[in-house]
Amino acid sequence: MYASALRRSTLFVAIAFFTLASAGLPLLNPVFAAPTTSEGNDVAASRVVEGLLKKMTLEEKIGQMSQVALNQPQTISPEEQARQGVGSFLFITDPARINHLQHVAVEQSRLHIPLIFGFDVIHGFRTIYPVPLALAASWDPKVAEHAQHMAAREARAAGVNWTFAPMVDIARDARWGRIMEGAGEDPYLGARMAEAQIHGFQGETLGGPDSLLACVKHFAGYGAAVGGRDYEESNISDEQLWNVYLPPFEAAVDAGSGTLMTAYMDLNGVPAAGNNWLLHDVLRDKWHFNGFVVSDWDAVKSLTVHGFAADDADAAARAVNAGIDMEMTSHVYRDQLAAAVKDGRVSQATVDEAVRRILTVKYRLGLFSSPYINVEEAPSRMVTQEQRTASRLAAERSAVLLRNENQILPLKTSGTVALIGPLIDSKADIMGSWSLAAHQADSVTVLDGMKRYTASHPALKIVSTVGVEIERGQPSIFDEQFASPKPKFATDDQRQREFAHAIELVKSSDVAVLVLGESQDMSGERASRSTLTLPGKQEQLLEAAVATGKPIVLLLMNGRPLDITWASSHVAAILDDWYPGTDGGNAIANLLFGEAVPGGKLPVSWPRTVGQEPLYYGENLTQIPDAPNTRYWDGSSAPLYPFGFGLSYSTFTLGNLKSSASTMHTTGSITMSCDVTNIGKIAADEVVQIYTHQRAGSASRPVRELKGFKRVTLKAGEHQTVSIKVDAQELAFWSPQTHKRSVEPGVFDLWVGNSSQATTHTTFAVK
Ligand code: NOJ
Repeated sequence: MYASALRRSTLFVAIAFFTLASAGLPLLNPVFAAPTTSEGNDVAASRVVEGLLKKMTLEEKIGQMSQVALNQPQTISPEEQARQGVGSFLFITDPARINHLQHVAVEQSRLHIPLIFGFDVIHGFRTIYPVPLALAASWDPKVAEHAQHMAAREARAAGVNWTFAPMVDIARDARWGRIMEGAGEDPYLGARMAEAQIHGFQGETLGGPDSLLACVKHFAGYGAAVGGRDYEESNISDEQLWNVYLPPFEAAVDAGSGTLMTAYMDLNGVPAAGNNWLLHDVLRDKWHFNGFVVSDWDAVKSLTVHGFAADDADAAARAVNAGIDMEMTSHVYRDQLAAAVKDGRVSQATVDEAVRRILTVKYRLGLFSSPYINVEEAPSRMVTQEQRTASRLAAERSAVLLRNENQILPLKTSGTVALIGPLIDSKADIMGSWSLAAHQADSVTVLDGMKRYTASHPALKIVSTVGVEIERGQPSIFDEQFASPKPKFATDDQRQREFAHAIELVKSSDVAVLVLGESQDMSGERASRSTLTLPGKQEQLLEAAVATGKPIVLLLMNGRPLDITWASSHVAAILDDWYPGTDGGNAIANLLFGEAVPGGKLPVSWPRTVGQEPLYYGENLTQIPDAPNTRYWDGSSAPLYPFGFGLSYSTFTLGNLKSSASTMHTTGSITMSCDVTNIGKIAADEVVQIYTHQRAGSASRPVRELKGFKRVTLKAGEHQTVSIKVDAQELAFWSPQTHKRSVEPGVFDLWVGNSSQATTHTTFAVK
């Protein structure tokens, strides 16, 4: 597969070469030919890049440092910008247009430097995969890796070279809309998902035919926005930064992320886009990141909005001096940087270094030797059956079963099922936010999936209606395709009749599945919420359905934990499907009828009420730790469902915890093992999780910290000994007393189980 694609792209270059030659146009420089080994790659990259740097004017260098958004009005045509040597375009997805602009850049710009086309391939391109929070709920990094690999294949076929993903911001506040884009609250799970996604996007080597350049974002601390309000400042202690917020970034850098995007907000009083400490001391000096750094949208110009830079010229100088190599969308580099170099505020060497990094990444990506795509072939590579199957499997593995009284799930394959709710047939909502290149027509809704299932089960009947509608906000510039459909029920009377009709359907059925949650635009960017309730009249619909006495299944579609506290003690079953993506409806039907068995676990602590946010399991212990009801006067401070929690249609036992040693050296490791048995009647998955706690040290440590996990599939009655290695280095932490990260000798508690409330316990020592 790889080899044939490589042959194809080599052929395009050859054809381009001869076409250009015969047209008398400038040719690609022969030094841009692809090298054969990775060492050769570095040497060749350096030769090409240094050669170009010598020839480039200051204006051409600044062009490479600029990224232009083609979904915005342009005063200079994109073709002219390509000719002048702009470095990158974003928000363009039409393969023919991409190829055309690439031809202009390569053939008509003075130095023939290819463009790099960026796009937000966050959880799929045309085929949409479950949102990243859902992928994290699979507790299976391979699921995330494969989803992003498939996404990369589609995006690359369309000519997109660079994705602005993965987002690895730790998020501990469900009000923050962007919690759906990351892996949740935990640095260890976050780090595993970060590296898996980098491998998925980039493949084994950057530059393979299906390899998409990754961009880990948003560096750093965006998820700690005060009050969960998007774009708000973050105030994070050094201890929390080093131990909680930075580890997923470090994991992504170690996994080879080719680029990194800075965050929008002030981190402890300094904007991330002008933050020398983050971009130099941490990223370059400590982590040895050798890719390039791009700002977030308009964030360089925004340095003036923060009250940090005096004016645009100051913003340009401070951003580039801090380490922003490429400016996204605002034009202060284009308009101000040359003057800043001439008057000495920015050195020529700083500009050269930024351009060197950008060109080196372009080279490593193979853009110099293989800049074009096969436009004719692109359509046949979109939403293929292989993509759909991968999307469905990922959705099945991401679902989390939160409640299942009397084993009401899986549903019987006979009788009448009422399918009710505003999200039952919404082709936009099932994809979730950041599905910008998707086509709604490709989506399989829950209703579609259920109909497909009933077609092969004649004893099963589905009746359906929405019951209530929920409103969307104004579509943003990014997602016009998600504009709200006109409400079907315009008057109060019509709305009441629809509500009553839904409840009648519930009464006349054997079981009802209510598909409730948020519309896709209620999470993601600029989509923070001050409540976590089910929007609109969905809660009333749910309560009325339960009042009929019929068994009710609540199927959640959501990008964040929602307030389902009433449901958690009144509704028979609750299955969280997040936003499952293009083939989500088929995945849901399979899960409801037991063709697939839920095995996901929560990547976030699920609150009882919004007032508990931020909420996370890895807190430090203080006064009266065993009395969670003393924290609030008016309710428990414990989560409704703990981090790591999720049920199955089967039942597992877990025991016989053994450790390979009772002590380990600070550079050593121990292997923990335990026996897991599926005592139920069907094959199913369990996720074995290991948590530790350091009893004493130079600083207080969290009550529990995830340090290992493994998702296993066991047949009915099967027994497996699961081993998980814990490296002493994983126990290292940054101490606010010693100001360094180290493994501190001491006694540790260790728990093994299937959630952060695991009870199987032992201790070990680090010497
Ligand atoms: C702004 C968002 O914060 C960032 O995540 C995204 O990649 C860029 N816009 C480009 O769309």
